[in-house]
Amino acid sequence: MTTINFTYLPGDGIGPEVGAAAMAVLTATTERFGHTLDAEHHLVGGAAIDALGSPLPADTYASCEKTGAILLGAVGGPKWDHLKGADRPELGSLLPLRKNLNLYTNIRPCKPHAALIDHAPLKRERLEGVDFVVMRELTGGIYFGDKGRDEQGAFDMCRYSEMEVERIAIKAFDLAMTRRKKVTSVDKSNVLETSRLWRETVIRVAKSYPEVELEHLLVDAMTMHMLTRGQDYDVILTENMFGDIITDEASVLCGSMGVIPSASLSDGNVGMYEPIHGSAPDIAGQGKANPIAMILSAAWMLRLSFDMDLEASAIEAAVDAALHGGHTTGDLGGKLSTSQVGDWVAAYVKDNG
Ligand code: NAD
Ligand code: IPM
Ligand code: MN
Repeated sequence: MTTINFTYLPGDGIGPEVGAAAMAVLTATTERFGHTLDAEHHLVGGAAIDALGSPLPADTYASCEKTGAILLGAVGGPKWDHLKGADRPELGSLLPLRKNLNLYTNIRPCKPHAALIDHAPLKRERLEGVDFVVMRELTGGIYFGDKGRDEQGAFDMCRYSEMEVERIAIKAFDLAMTRRKKVTSVDKSNVLETSRLWRETVIRVAKSYPEVELEHLLVDAMTMHMLTRGQDYDVILTENMFGDIITDEASVLCGSMGVIPSASLSDGNVGMYEPIHGSAPDIAGQGKANPIAMILSAAWMLRLSFDMDLEASAIEAAVDAALHGGHTTGDLGGKLSTSQVGDWVAAYVKDNG
């Protein structure tokens, strides 16, 4: 029996709703497998600003550092949009968590589920056989450079060191070696100097992986190719901002923003797990949010932070069954609420895990 000690940060908007569904699934999974769940609940983002005056209170951060395993819903929303810089939920909590915990490897999968192919807005032949993973660099680039205003306007500095590019490229090639042995590096090297460094460094790293095919694409072209020939990609390696943008686009292939999980990892054993979607203020509080991305993020936490492959696979099998059976929220054409999907997946794990 293992105690699963992690930090649970529901956050804002639909964060607490999809979070509650994931917690129900984690509870069922730990009961089924005889583990103990020890979740440290903390406020983050706008909820923490409202209650405690800071988007990342000291207790919240201390818990994240201590457990090294974090399950996060989403932060931000219109209520806090008037705030500036690090007073904002996004810049004041999510970004420092990623940076200070050195979570530079962000993994976001895209594999359209067979049951959702007819639901997606794209033709079946654009979706069948798509199975790629985006390796997004998460602690560098324009997100973290100097930003500000001056007499001429505003600026956001984009910087990358060779070390920052090299270490994420190594992660991408290592992953490709376990998959179909192809890396597609996405940059804007026809314009940006950081992208030129990116491309040179990726080419150098590739020399240590002679079995892996490397291709380069400019990010503007990638946004088109992803939707027209997504089958051509295996591991897509890209910088922070491009990775943010193209993974929202990837959700179109998968049928909804509500189905793609993510893991953000350090070199050590610290991991933060969160859906790629945000706090979805347009549907918050209505029980409409799809909890699957959050549930799959929780499964990834079990696998990657607690070495519980069996338990994670049981959750993934339950999600698979929910999708096949149409036990889904409205974004996927189903009739269930957020909590009903969570309860369905939890019950399936209990009975079949
Ligand atoms: P969003 O991802 O919250 O929503 C985009 C669209 O997708 C909306 O129409 C929303 O209803 C839909 N959607 C998102 N998640 C869904 C789900 N689980 N089920 C069904 N539909 C879902 O992006 P946005 O509207 O641009 O941003 C809203 C807020 O979230 C902003 O404050 C933004 O900064 C923040 N945000 C936070 C994170 C994070 O915490 N990791 C990520 C992205 C955006
Ligand atoms: C994401 C989000 C964040 C990002 C925002 C909220 C800072 O969009 O995790 O995809 O841009 O990384
Ligand atoms: Mn995003």
